Amino acid sequence: MSQRLRILNIVGARPNLPKIAPLIREMQRHPDIEPILVHTGQHYDEKLSDIFFRQMGIPSPQVNLEVGSGTHASQTAEILKRIEPVLLERKPHLVLVVGDVNSTVAVSLAAVKLGIPVAHVEAGLRSFDRSMPEEINRILTDAIADYLFVTEADAIEHLLQEGRPREAIHLVGNVMIDSLRYFLPIAQQSIIGSELGLTDGLAWRRFALLTLHRPSNVDSTEKLAELLGAIDAIAAEVPVVFPVHPRTQQRLVQADIAHHPQLHLTPPLGYLDFLCLLSKATLVLTDSGGIQEETTALGVSCLTLRTNTERPITIAEGTNQLVGTNPARILAAAREILRGKNKTGRIPPLWDGHAAERIVETLLRMAPRMKSTVT
Ligand code: UD1
Repeated sequence: MSQRLRILNIVGARPNLPKIAPLIREMQRHPDIEPILVHTGQHYDEKLSDIFFRQMGIPSPQVNLEVGSGTHASQTAEILKRIEPVLLERKPHLVLVVGDVNSTVAVSLAAVKLGIPVAHVEAGLRSFDRSMPEEINRILTDAIADYLFVTEADAIEHLLQEGRPREAIHLVGNVMIDSLRYFLPIAQQSIIGSELGLTDGLAWRRFALLTLHRPSNVDSTEKLAELLGAIDAIAAEVPVVFPVHPRTQQRLVQADIAHHPQLHLTPPLGYLDFLCLLSKATLVLTDSGGIQEETTALGVSCLTLRTNTERPITIAEGTNQLVGTNPARILAAAREILRGKNKTGRIPPLWDGHAAERIVETLLRMAPRMKSTVT
């Protein structure tokens, strides 16, 4: 039998985990593939990392680089330094990275410099806002990756405009939505609703779900206080559940901002509890990228508290609205939804739960070429 295709898969931060889970599951179904999983350790907490491995059945990483937190330069540099010997030792035929976090760009750079091909899953998304660290990570990763797997048609245009060859680009759908579809029935058995007082017997009360962690929204105390002012006004109408990211938690503690009693702050939630709340919420307010997509897949109304999005299909076709960060505008848009004026949407093409299958199928087709580049 010819040699198996060795694919070294990278995870670093929380949003990478629902993306890698279906890919590893699919790779494990193919005897011709030897998947290797490496965690950079960018996120290391039980609640940002370990619980996701357990709940989604992701195998324990063979290697953990344990880079931890740091400035962008030092975190990226540590990943670069620590991944190189792993690549030299494991000799993968391909490195697969997902998303747009520091781990994504750092490992891609180390791999291509060693002549190892890179596949980028979720390529081509652009916010056109270069002050976002993730935008820089996306542009750089896409510039050097060999296989570009995209979730929506706009991404193809962006990559072509940046000079990437058409034959490197594959429209395959959305692996995060693979996870959503796979885990939704299990998530809906979660008891988080009764724990948070959101259910009355089997019925759910109306509630809003909030997440905030973008540096531009939370790193300035004034900005954060302004946004939470709008949220307080929403909390006066319906309970608002706010699982707080550690970055945001640090600012809240420093700033000591008071909040409405119906604004319920919780620690970060595991995947299943959070997905359960997402699927039952009357309204979601967020500055996350992934949650814009998940609400579109679920048909749940979403207000994105940013001035731009790299996921325009969630607006053009889905249930997402970009409302910016002006408190009056956020409140007005939220009230419309609470009055029942929901934006209806449809699920984008290929967000059907089978993206990982398409990716693995493509990689297997390309396997002879990869095996000839790396010995
Ligand atoms: C990172 C990603 C962002 C992603 C987000 C999801 C980059 C540039 N950013 O941002 O794209 O949306 O993850 O969460 O890669 N911390 C902990 N425990 C941890 C990890 C971090 O407490 O396990 C704290 C640290 O004090 C750290 C802060 O959270 O300084 C922020 O973490 P960091 O990894 O720098 O970036 P995120 O804001 O999480």
